Amino acid sequence: MSKHNESWGSRVGLVLAMAGNAVGLGNFLRFPVQAVQNGGGAFIIPYLVCFLLMGIPLLYVEWSMGRFGGGRGHHSTPFILDSMAPKQFLWKYIGVFGIFTNVAVAAYYCYLESWTLGYIWHSISGTFKGMDSAQVADFFSGYTAFDDYSNVAFWVFCLALNTYILSRGLSGGVEKVAKVGMPLLIAFGVLLAIRGITLKSGNAGAVYDGTEGLNYLWTPDFSSIWTPKVWLAAAGQIFFTLSVGMGSIQCYASYLRKRDDVALNAMSAGWMNEFVEVVLGAAIVIPITVGYFGIDGMKDLVQQAGGLGLGFRTLPYLFQQWGPVLAVVAGVLWFGLLFFAGITSSLAMGTPVLGFLRDEFGWKRTSAAWAFGAIVFILGLPTVLFFKYGVFDEYDYWAGTVSLVVFAMFEIILFAWVFGIDKGWEEITRGADMTVPIIFKYIIKFVTPAILIFVFVGSLPGIWDAITNKAIYEQIGKATDGAVIEELKRKIFFVNISRILLVAVWGFIAFLVYKAYAKRRREGRFTTSEI
Ligand code: TRP
Repeated sequence: MSKHNESWGSRVGLVLAMAGNAVGLGNFLRFPVQAVQNGGGAFIIPYLVCFLLMGIPLLYVEWSMGRFGGGRGHHSTPFILDSMAPKQFLWKYIGVFGIFTNVAVAAYYCYLESWTLGYIWHSISGTFKGMDSAQVADFFSGYTAFDDYSNVAFWVFCLALNTYILSRGLSGGVEKVAKVGMPLLIAFGVLLAIRGITLKSGNAGAVYDGTEGLNYLWTPDFSSIWTPKVWLAAAGQIFFTLSVGMGSIQCYASYLRKRDDVALNAMSAGWMNEFVEVVLGAAIVIPITVGYFGIDGMKDLVQQAGGLGLGFRTLPYLFQQWGPVLAVVAGVLWFGLLFFAGITSSLAMGTPVLGFLRDEFGWKRTSAAWAFGAIVFILGLPTVLFFKYGVFDEYDYWAGTVSLVVFAMFEIILFAWVFGIDKGWEEITRGADMTVPIIFKYIIKFVTPAILIFVFVGSLPGIWDAITNKAIYEQIGKATDGAVIEELKRKIFFVNISRILLVAVWGFIAFLVYKAYAKRRREGRFTTSEI
């Protein structure tokens, strides 16, 4: 059995790769929209509380779990979790979530990532020149509905690129991309943020100042403190953006050495993500859109077209108002930034899959990388072909939202209560280059699990509504036009099929874990090697 030995090339590389894992499309497209949909300034307090009480504790937990498992030769969550409680057979199946989420999210995430490439191309070639706002928005609808199949070409190219980089390994591929991509992303983001904030009404066709949008996001509003929905959204955003509850941090951390620092590295990567999200992510899309359409206009746009709406349907039009040269520059900066944000995250989704196939089935890195590319292609196909039937959103809901909370809830119980907080604390602080405030020991033991259970239980009604397709049936109830009803029924069909598909993927991974476990027993390799 090949015990694959790989490690990070440098500490800077590791932190940038981890930051790249966290910093993604979520920071620039999902965060601003979540904030707007949950009342602007009303969102920020729950968001920051969730960061402190769930985000930071889970970062410590996942980094140290990863290093723990990695020291025992495990690089994906099924056997990382297993090695923490070797006598309880169930944990490895909880660990299935840490592979499942990655493949299922990658399936739609890489498609989205490929749009950024397409839009860089269209920005440079001047496609949006002279279009009015409706035309730019229609262009997006056309793009995702195969007007010219270029979307498919960019998608396949993007998958091939991910596969190639993954096949080059951690220090030779992932780390290199992060070292180039992250600084560029931040530079591009800073330039656009400056432009967003300094936008003046009366200049370049803007009606309002850029600061108007910032005020909307940042004026704390306590009215929502008692609204569970806002807390759920804040928790969901913290999970998604930090990449916790997904298995990708554990995987990256499993390539650390036993005495490498966890505490400071985890904080550096985590806070870098928050800077990019809260400072840069908030200072681009919303201020610029508000500058032209005002707060209400911006809210309408968010309502109509959701998270992707502003970034792809609106900004390319607004950039045109800045004159021909700046329009191209801004387009390249914006979609370039999104591309770097996206690829450093999708690589992080691939790594656990590679780790699993290499650890358990002795696959070579290149074959494992191709396997990942192929899986993402096959699972992604429905999101590409049936985008308009909500397949994309369905994946996002189950794999990118529900599954994170479920997995995080179990893993923190494992860490704090089964593995034991004393041993856990020892893992977190061993080799630490900073003092971890002792209060986190208690937060990890009591507060985080309690909130997670609370969030999970609180989201059950919503999950049930989703399973029963409540929202779509309500739309059907209201619709009068027969064609619309037909279309909605078709949507139910596609949505149900995609759920079955996702469940099947989960089951298949669980089957592989079962096989891997049986193989280990046959070979006399027990899951915890006594290191
Ligand atoms: N954190 C990323 C973002 O903000 C998304 C992400 C990174 C992710 N790694 C992941 C999602 C693994 C699921 C699984 O966009």
